[in-house]
Amino acid sequence: MIVSYQITSVLAKNIILLNHPLMIKKIKTEQLKIGMYVHDFNCDKADEHVFISKALIKTEKAIQILDSWGIKEVYIDTLQGLDVERRKTNNKVTRDRRNGSHKMQGSGHSPPPDTTPLKEEVKIANTIKKEAVDIMQQAMVAAEEGKDIDVGNAFQLVEKMEKSVSRNKDALLLLTRMRRKDEYTLMHSISVSSLVLAFCNFSGIDYSMTINLAIGALLHDIGKTKIPIAILNKPGKLNPEEYTIIQKHAEYSADILADKSKLPSEVFDIALHHHERRDGSGYPDGLKGDAIGFGPKVVSLCDVYDAITSDRCYQNGIDKVGGLKILYDGSNLHFDKKLAYDFIRFIGVYPIGTCIKLENELVGVVTGSSGNLLQPVVRLFYSDKKKAAIRIQEINLSEVNIDIASYEASANWSSDKKQQFNTLRKTLGPLQ
Ligand SMILES: [Fe+2]
Ligand SMILES: [Fe+2]
Repeated sequence: MIVSYQITSVLAKNIILLNHPLMIKKIKTEQLKIGMYVHDFNCDKADEHVFISKALIKTEKAIQILDSWGIKEVYIDTLQGLDVERRKTNNKVTRDRRNGSHKMQGSGHSPPPDTTPLKEEVKIANTIKKEAVDIMQQAMVAAEEGKDIDVGNAFQLVEKMEKSVSRNKDALLLLTRMRRKDEYTLMHSISVSSLVLAFCNFSGIDYSMTINLAIGALLHDIGKTKIPIAILNKPGKLNPEEYTIIQKHAEYSADILADKSKLPSEVFDIALHHHERRDGSGYPDGLKGDAIGFGPKVVSLCDVYDAITSDRCYQNGIDKVGGLKILYDGSNLHFDKKLAYDFIRFIGVYPIGTCIKLENELVGVVTGSSGNLLQPVVRLFYSDKKKAAIRIQEINLSEVNIDIASYEASANWSSDKKQQFNTLRKTLGPLQ
């Protein structure tokens, strides 16, 4: 039996429906597998069976039925379901990145898969994070005192970060999102740089450009060291004068980096223009559309996403989705539309840390990706049906073929549900 897929969240629908023709593939019906999402049945016969339109294939029987109707070819949507067997695509993408084509390869390709499990990479990423904190502290002190920043150190660091992100895209991202309020600018810079690395990896951007953009991201807010701390850390809204002062940080960043002749041009461009917006409403130059360079376009997305979601801790994944919605809404006015859509796809419909409820009313938190965007790995801890805690267990939804019914907002949880979630957090080890 074929069952139409439904997601209750409007945002999830928006993300899934982002127009991307490369996600639609024509395949032979015999290549259909459970877990593929049929976008179009490519046959008038399907019209006779009005109960099917777009559908997720959930059983072998469904494939047999299509065959019995004489449907020999279908169009599948690889964004919403499984792809046909991977050939050598991923290896090729990785090789191409090293060999250096500077173009985006288009988000229709499959990004390189993680080669190291999250748990393992977190240990390595933790060491890299500590090194990053040291290097950024030194850079910020040097900038504050008008001394030279050790750019060589920054390059070596970013290369290590790139290797970590290539092995597992989530480890460094998760670690850099855990920060104390007093280390905001420092951890924000490392986090934005990690996001840039992972996004470039996802998008197939070549290695040297990836490193340049990540260096730019690491140093993009270095000019904040010239802003009075009282304004920088002011709780609540800034008044117009304070806002004008804080806007100066982009020019200060560019000034600090200007005499570093060895720095690639993208780094300087990112420092100066990461607050420019597509409609010209940004600063300092009010650049519009393609007058904004590729580097600032990429970094502005990562910068805004990190800033919006940074106050929220690991458990409050719904806010990550809220962050994506802001990028989606701003894709017309503020950001490069294609890059914004690619970025939303990169973060995914259910980012790690997002709380969700399954169709069977079990509640859990997303802890990993399964290769199927809509059926991630989740750790379950509560049954809404029984209104009771359950034994904490991790399941790969793509293996058991259970769908997510909705996002969960922890603010409305009962006390026993919150308590069980806290127990769950203890099972997350280094990800707590
Ligand atoms: Fe900034
Ligand atoms: Fe920033």
